[in-house]
Amino acid sequence: MPPSRRVRALIDGLSWAEKLGQLQIVFRPSLHEAKQLVRGGIGSVFWPRSSAAVNALQRVAVEETRLGIPVLVGLDVVHGHRTTAPIPLAQAATFDRDLVRELARLAAAEARSAGVTWTFSPMIDVSRDPRWGRVAEGFGEDVYITAEMGRAMVRGYHGEELAASDAIAATAKHFVAYGQPEGGRDYNTADASEHRLRNVHLEPFRAAVETGAAAVMASFNTVDGRPMHANRRLLTDVLKSEWGFDGIVVGDADGVRNLIPHRVAADLADAVRLAYGAGLDVEMGGAPSDLNPSELAPDRLDPARLDDAVGRVLALKEALGLFDDPYVPEADERTEPTHEARRLVRTAAARSAVLLKNDGTLPLRRPRRVLVTGPYAESADHLGAWTQSFAAPAGSIADELGERMPQAELRVAPGVRFLDDDASGIPLVVAAAREADIVLVFAGEPSSLTGEAASRSDLRLPGRQEELIRAIAGTGTPFVVVLETGRPLVVADWIDRAPAVIVAWHGGTEAAAAIVDILLGDAEPSGRLPMSFPRSSAQVPIHYAHELTGRPATVGGTLDETSVDIGLHGPDNVHEKYTSKYLDLELGPQFAFGHGSGYATFVHGAPRISADTVRLETLEAGAHVVVEVEVTNTSSRPGDEVVQAYLEDVVASVAPPVRRLVAFERRTVEPGATVTVSFELGTAELGFWSTDSAPARFVVEPGLFRIHIGSRLERTQAVELVVR
Ligand code: NOJ
Repeated sequence: MPPSRRVRALIDGLSWAEKLGQLQIVFRPSLHEAKQLVRGGIGSVFWPRSSAAVNALQRVAVEETRLGIPVLVGLDVVHGHRTTAPIPLAQAATFDRDLVRELARLAAAEARSAGVTWTFSPMIDVSRDPRWGRVAEGFGEDVYITAEMGRAMVRGYHGEELAASDAIAATAKHFVAYGQPEGGRDYNTADASEHRLRNVHLEPFRAAVETGAAAVMASFNTVDGRPMHANRRLLTDVLKSEWGFDGIVVGDADGVRNLIPHRVAADLADAVRLAYGAGLDVEMGGAPSDLNPSELAPDRLDPARLDDAVGRVLALKEALGLFDDPYVPEADERTEPTHEARRLVRTAAARSAVLLKNDGTLPLRRPRRVLVTGPYAESADHLGAWTQSFAAPAGSIADELGERMPQAELRVAPGVRFLDDDASGIPLVVAAAREADIVLVFAGEPSSLTGEAASRSDLRLPGRQEELIRAIAGTGTPFVVVLETGRPLVVADWIDRAPAVIVAWHGGTEAAAAIVDILLGDAEPSGRLPMSFPRSSAQVPIHYAHELTGRPATVGGTLDETSVDIGLHGPDNVHEKYTSKYLDLELGPQFAFGHGSGYATFVHGAPRISADTVRLETLEAGAHVVVEVEVTNTSSRPGDEVVQAYLEDVVASVAPPVRRLVAFERRTVEPGATVTVSFELGTAELGFWSTDSAPARFVVEPGLFRIHIGSRLERTQAVELVVR
């Protein structure tokens, strides 16, 4: 879009130094420093902690700078501002786009009331390596669900219009391939083929741009040897030129400075010039201001490029309505979660919880003697990675249970702590377990082990928690394990001995209440895994949408629910030497993507397809085939089913993923009722990015497709479609 007249006039009126000021966001200064920076012409700042402080800064910008341009106020509003929703990985587990949009709306309303106008969210890095701590911040391993949830969040943040008093500008991050760091180590190199870039990592960003995301953040990693802050091909040629992105490309914190240790810039001036030249619009960290102005003089930077960047920044300020009114009503700042906000995040936490297994122990049936144990029993650490220090605190599960189970004799004995090596509390727990009717074990990893710079090489429960679980199993008393985590964990050493296991993630402000809702059966644990749980840390990265290889290992007969390696059933060759496998691990993950059940039970009818043959031209003209399935709730309780549709491209010009999610829908079904769930499949679902020519082309290749529909990967029925 060409700049508006107001923006054009401002660009013409700004001096060179003022333009450079607009192209920076300074990282968390004090209010005093922020005022100085704004007075000096800096165009964006991190949130100074209150609506009053924001107004003070805007007053400086409007009244004390030459052209009176208001500032953008940025903050990582990632899964909440004052009210914290479940972590994004948990939000993906809900398979509920509307809910994710609502959560983003809530976060936007709270943040904008405080003067925040720009969030650095959603994170849409397809994440297939659970060693990487940042998997907590994204939507997991699947391209489609990441793209869909990214769209939902952008819509939630932006609302009807950015100028509204409850909307903030979204940033899709981190562009690109940051979710595939070598070894799962944060910030590490990513080397992705064009095929993988186009079909995996770029795809959610394309969706976010299509949805209108206001900004895109460059990532810390290299791609193809080029750090993303200096990657002109991806920032300019693909993102801006090919996709027509007209928003802001913002750098990550000190990402421009980091070009020096990356060894692609000789010094800071070189780094800044490289980054703006590559297509970066706003530097995060203040690098340009740290330089002697002569280093960034007009003869050393392309003035047209700089004007383009300034135009993008001013256009966002205009869209946010800041030129008309940069101030927020201080009396309206939402500093506490409202009742509705709490209710929403509680629903989300329950909907995100995944029932990994259940032998009928859950929901609890009014047990009398209850032992509550594990490091999460009395902890309030439910908020997860990227939580604000000013967020409303969460409560403890032990307290919540105390209130909700007045008839029970509750005994609380955590037994072990998260990180230390002290197992001396376990014998006491064992003795208490012998006296109990049920043991509730609240285990997991603390928030501090998840998020940025929190990669782990060992994905088992930290500390002595596994020992605690095995000791409880040894008593013979029934028990339930609730896992709070920001990533898939390795549970192989104890899962077979546990009667019931729930993954509750880091569930946010109302996590404790939601967990108790589930234990008591007041809510359904109806989430599905957005990332596979590996059998061993040495098995990662492992994800369901893998290619087959020329020598796939296959397990014969019917797939068993927990040892599935998707698509690999056939003649049993797993014992043959020259097939792709580990000699010392069973095939497939412990629990695959999409796994999860609930208390209600469902039966799916045979899927139907509206046509078994379709012409390519018909599809290309916009037609769809419709696949539908009837889903019956066979239980006596209402419940939510997540119907998943996976595409199998039987023969293609490039090795296709063995299965790929192309549609899903979450439906509430009353007891005994039957609903019809239908999906439209067209070119977007059947095609892929072909990189045979540059630029890549989106193609649908004629041939046979199978569409597998069901409640999870290993429980699907297929219909066939021929594209001619
Ligand atoms: C670094 C992180 O990588 C990024 O996600 C975040 O938005 C910035 N810091 C700003 O806090």
